[in-house]
Amino acid sequence: MKTAEYSPGLEGIIAGTTTISHVNPERNSLMYRGYDIKDLVQNSTFEEVAYLMIRGHLPNQGEYDAFCSQLKQERSIPQTIIETFKTLPAKSNPMDMLKVGVALLALSDPDKDDDSHEANVRKAIRLVAKFPALITYSYRISRGQEIVQPDASLGHGENFLYMLLGKKPDSYISHVFDSSLICYVDHGFNASTFAARVTVSTLSDIYSGTLSAIGALKGPLHGGANEEAMKMLLEVGSPENAEAWVLDALATKKKIMGFGHREYKTGDPRAAILTEMGAEISEKLGDARWYKTASVVEATMNREKQILPNVDFPTSYIYYLMGLPIEIYTPIFALARIAGWTSHMIEQLDNNRLIRPKALYEGPQHVEYVARDRR
Ligand code: SDX
Repeated sequence: MKTAEYSPGLEGIIAGTTTISHVNPERNSLMYRGYDIKDLVQNSTFEEVAYLMIRGHLPNQGEYDAFCSQLKQERSIPQTIIETFKTLPAKSNPMDMLKVGVALLALSDPDKDDDSHEANVRKAIRLVAKFPALITYSYRISRGQEIVQPDASLGHGENFLYMLLGKKPDSYISHVFDSSLICYVDHGFNASTFAARVTVSTLSDIYSGTLSAIGALKGPLHGGANEEAMKMLLEVGSPENAEAWVLDALATKKKIMGFGHREYKTGDPRAAILTEMGAEISEKLGDARWYKTASVVEATMNREKQILPNVDFPTSYIYYLMGLPIEIYTPIFALARIAGWTSHMIEQLDNNRLIRPKALYEGPQHVEYVARDRR
């Protein structure tokens, strides 16, 4: 039921203004600070896009070099957090462990009691810089592996892969991974970003807003979809099985993970970019099985429901081909989105108004209170 003021799930409701990213379903386009995502994937790096989001403009060479070295200087995390990771149950959920790490990081941030713009920018940069360690240390420790210290010769994305897998990725894999991070950085008022903005709109802090965002991103209707999409492809198993599998799933009203979008109804521009990369990496690695299986799933979904893939579908099999553990896919989404989340929180705090929508009450009215012994 929609009224002039009410729309389920806030669908179609404008809940605020932003200058950070523009999701344009009419043109199937996504822009970060006015730059088209296609141009950024083609020409930029994750570090440069993170700078663009946090600072609001593309850096010149001096600003870029200083930012990259600042990220490298800030890569380490307190030993107490590493020790705490060792106390967590084995094989804990990586998104839950990320929440533990961020909560502990907040306690040691030198700017924890300063919510000025510049302090918030410093906290944003620390969070971007430290997410690789929080994610890879907790993951490796919980799986009984030694942690891998960061390598200062590597960029942000390739260093994450090195810390996760213990071996340096080749330049092609690093390029594809960096492109996926650029695609994941920001996307308007998606659920996790909006959760972050609601949190800091009470004048709470950037770390608390980050915890809200991680919690929202974990859900399979949001960032958790990339993991579920790969599990689905593994269950489908081959291109030959795909059509029947999808038809059966649709017949039982299942949601096909990695498909559909609240905003894009005729295609997610990030999915188009990454699907092309999926074809390329499959070719380069000589393993077309998952790309072909995905293509049949996509064709069946388009024919049966006119529903197209979103960013989480191609990333699923690209990361699988890279040999990344499936349970780390959503933390990778967070690894990139932390640049978007912090930019939005800074924007919210710079011109804040408490976010507090109304509720449409549908319960009983004026009910008489009856004493307990007479109920
Ligand atoms: C992300 O918001 C963002 O910007 C998010 C994101 C970002 O960058 O932050 O883009 C990242 O979260 C992408 C989405 C990842 N989630 C999934 O892939 C999960 C599967 N997708 C669906 O759950 C769904 O498409 C949503 C949640 C993404 C969008 O849901 P909506 O807008 O609430 O749409 P809906 O559920 O009301 O669906 C409308 C119709 C329904 O059919 P009817 O019940 O009306 O007959 O389309 C159907 C749905 O059943 N439908 C699907 C489907 N998605 C929609 N049917 C099968 N499989 C699907 N994936």
